[in-house]
Amino acid sequence: MFFDRFLGFGESIGIDLGTASVLVYIKGKGIVLREPSVVTVDKDTNTILAVGSEARKMIGKTPGNIAVIRPLREGVISDYETTERMLKYFIQKAMGSHPLAKPTIAVCVPSIITEVEKRAVEDAARQAGARKVFIIEEPIAAAIGAGIDISRPCGSMVVDIGGGTTDIAVISLGGNVVSTSLKLAGDNFDEAIIKYMRKKHSLLIGEKSAELLKINIGTAYERTMPVSMDIRGRNLITGLPKNITVTSEEMLEALSECVESIADAVHSILEKTPPELAADISDRGIVMTGGGSLLYGLDKLISKRTGINTIIAEDAMSCVAIGTGRYIEFENGGKINLKYKRENNISIEKYEKKNESELEKTKDSNNKKKNKK
Ligand SMILES: Nc1ncnc2c1ncn2[C@@H]1O[C@H](COP(=O)(O)OP(=O)(O)OP(=O)(O)O)[C@@H](O)[C@H]1O
Ligand SMILES: [Mg+2]
Repeated sequence: MFFDRFLGFGESIGIDLGTASVLVYIKGKGIVLREPSVVTVDKDTNTILAVGSEARKMIGKTPGNIAVIRPLREGVISDYETTERMLKYFIQKAMGSHPLAKPTIAVCVPSIITEVEKRAVEDAARQAGARKVFIIEEPIAAAIGAGIDISRPCGSMVVDIGGGTTDIAVISLGGNVVSTSLKLAGDNFDEAIIKYMRKKHSLLIGEKSAELLKINIGTAYERTMPVSMDIRGRNLITGLPKNITVTSEEMLEALSECVESIADAVHSILEKTPPELAADISDRGIVMTGGGSLLYGLDKLISKRTGINTIIAEDAMSCVAIGTGRYIEFENGGKINLKYKRENNISIEKYEKKNESELEKTKDSNNKKKNKK
């Protein structure tokens, strides 16, 4: 380690450059940075005023000369100059001041990204001090981060629901066998809530309020115990502020179209999956990652629609960053670091055990149903 530093070969850094947030993972340290993908810029001078959480606080509250930019939207880099600046800022913030340490940086980028944008990301990482840069596909990173050994000849299905995109992939032997990327994820859930509130209650609410409703009472599958939440917005008829109480049943109505589309897409990927791999998936279950997968009941909905046990990965929002950092170890001279293998096997065991116990439960209840008949 010391010699690595001395020679300028520093840490392995994994970056999840997401639509909603940027996470930085450093081997041995874990997640060292977790910030929203937001930048505020002074339009007159084109200087950056704030990046990350500081910038996010300004959403909806800026005067005319200040622009709040989300440079990655709908899973694509919509403003790549700002993305480059934001990425450089985060890398430097995460690394601190290690003038001798030149890290290897792996960046996980949205799946619908052009070659030009990929190069812009690579350049930004190099300019921020990277010795070597890898660009990684999101489902592969998500799978590694969820503790799946992607190198095995065994089918695993990963559904990563972020802010801008939902990536669904069947992975075996280190590659995507069948996959798709939908421009439908957490941000669209918020938009659906805004639309619903306007139509049903003539109430105009902001992005932040919609996200709060989604996180607190959002529902993709009927709840056993309905919940409710008060929200403030602007009454579109009187033009004045108004408080109303929203229920989880209403959220189910607001979100049903979005969540059904995701479940349909999972179903259609399963239909395209070669039978041997489909059998593996039905044994091992579907793994969900990304912040959007935390929407209440989305795992249950997918389980019901596919008949396959669906689990949310541990620390679902960090999987992509962790997997991106660990990917470097696969790439380093083609060798898999034994320490990684050990760590990974432990988490696979954990994953499989969890899966097995869930499967046992499903088998038990199926048997009970059969016996009843
Ligand atoms: N508990 C929760 N319930 C529902 N949604 C949540 C929850 N926590 C976070 N989210 C949503 O998750 C999304 C962000 O997830 P994530 O950080 O994985 O996205 P990202 O990786 O930045 O996006 P992408 O992968 O599309 O580029 C946001 O839409 C956020 O509102
Ligand atoms: Mg993501």
